[in-house]
Amino acid sequence: MTLPTFSVRGVPVWKAFLSPEQQSRLVLDLREVVRQAPLFHPVTMRGKEMSVRMTSAGQYGWVSDRRGYRYEQVHPAGMEWPPIPDAVLEVWRTLSGYDRDPQSCLVNFYDASARMGLHQDRDEADFSAPVLSISLGDAALFRVGNAERGGSTESFWLESGDVMALTGESRLLFHGVDRIRAGSSSLLPKGGRINVTLRVVT
Ligand code: SIN
Ligand code: FE2
Repeated sequence: MTLPTFSVRGVPVWKAFLSPEQQSRLVLDLREVVRQAPLFHPVTMRGKEMSVRMTSAGQYGWVSDRRGYRYEQVHPAGMEWPPIPDAVLEVWRTLSGYDRDPQSCLVNFYDASARMGLHQDRDEADFSAPVLSISLGDAALFRVGNAERGGSTESFWLESGDVMALTGESRLLFHGVDRIRAGSSSLLPKGGRINVTLRVVT
């Protein structure tokens, strides 16, 4: 077992789990995913475009449109999601503590002004499986709250190469991204942040 660097409200964080070389390789793998399944702006049920652009790899991809949030086996443009890169699966197998492989690899791209409001991850069938998150590129101020909406919150920075998990008691905590610190990483030539989240869906 690899011990986390610290935990906040039961959210373990492995700081700099990925070396700069591993991060660069992962970016190449994710560019290939995006080439096969282009990033798109999900739309909320109210018809508002999310600031984050997304795509997925694996058997299931997470989509949102006026019909709601759900997992789909095809991209909104109709193609199948590409396979989850091996290097991504390796992170899951090392840190998830879970015996099944992830079925979904959500790739979120944040530009300097993107953010993500507080929400729970609860579109999956089995909450005993963790959600594992890999951060690449510019740092993000990540906020974590409670299992119900409202109440106090705490925040910390997720930097390039950090891995984080929502697991066990923290699996259903409200969480979000307040802001991106533009220019804090040179991993992506045009800046921005990639967040990869791995999930067991069914
Ligand atoms: C998410 O909650 O799906 C994304 C979290 C992050 O970008 O770190
Ligand atoms: Fe989430």
